[in-house]
Amino acid sequence: MLRLEGLSCGYGLFHAVSELELEVPGGTITGLIGPNGAGKSSTLMCVAGHVDLQAGRILFDEHDIGGLPAPERVRRGIAVAPEGRRLFKDLSVEDNLRVGGLIHKASLFKADRDYVLSLFPRLGERLGSIAATLSGGEQQMLSVGRALMARPKLIMIDELSLGLMPKMVDLCYEALLRLKQDGMTILLVEQNTDRVLSVADHVCVLESGRTVWSGNAADARNDPELAAAYLGLR
Ligand SMILES: Nc1ncnc2c1ncn2[C@@H]1O[C@H](COP(=O)(O)OP(=O)(O)O)[C@@H](O)[C@H]1O
Ligand SMILES: [Mg+2]
Repeated sequence: MLRLEGLSCGYGLFHAVSELELEVPGGTITGLIGPNGAGKSSTLMCVAGHVDLQAGRILFDEHDIGGLPAPERVRRGIAVAPEGRRLFKDLSVEDNLRVGGLIHKASLFKADRDYVLSLFPRLGERLGSIAATLSGGEQQMLSVGRALMARPKLIMIDELSLGLMPKMVDLCYEALLRLKQDGMTILLVEQNTDRVLSVADHVCVLESGRTVWSGNAADARNDPELAAAYLGLR
């Protein structure tokens, strides 16, 4: 569904990511992992159209979308739950969801909201609450839910579990698996390597903007050198 060919992206003359090759097949979970500053967020934001593409191609559904403005990419089916969540903090939970669905007819809102609430029942109890008053875990759920309101084909989630209580991480990962069952394609950035490897079909390990490993998640789990060097696994 998504293919990055020789992608370099960054800020001005600085390459945050160089010559990245990445394939995200439809209906799968692909994990993008690596240490701080590796270029994970830059990659997601370049696909979304918010960070400059410096070289290479971004193919989505076989179309080269690298030159399209960000809103057009949303309309084509790419949504992002960004690092730090970037919620509309002064708006209610329901209105945050409404904003996520603004590209669609208002008549779709209720059904789409109810789907999000079926994934994240806790949000249903907080519909009228101002987003700023939610716990970290609830805010993460809302960020993912808002992205889903755009009815994407591909959802990119940046640091799903960062800073969350273990119980909340469990709930978020349950929702992720349910999304996959429902046919969603997911590109997941995480520092929590154990978690990614437990759900991902494929993983790509970035370091200093370059791929150091990519392949099946099962192979990643069984590669002792990789595990020791990059995954923090014992
Ligand atoms: N807005 C920005 N302007 C300049 N450099 C940036 C900006 N955002 C990130 N970078 C740099 O790009 C590199 C990759 O960062 P990032 O994509 O955020 O990594 P990760 O998400 O893997 O932690 C880092 O060297 C970081 O300092
Ligand atoms: Mg990041």
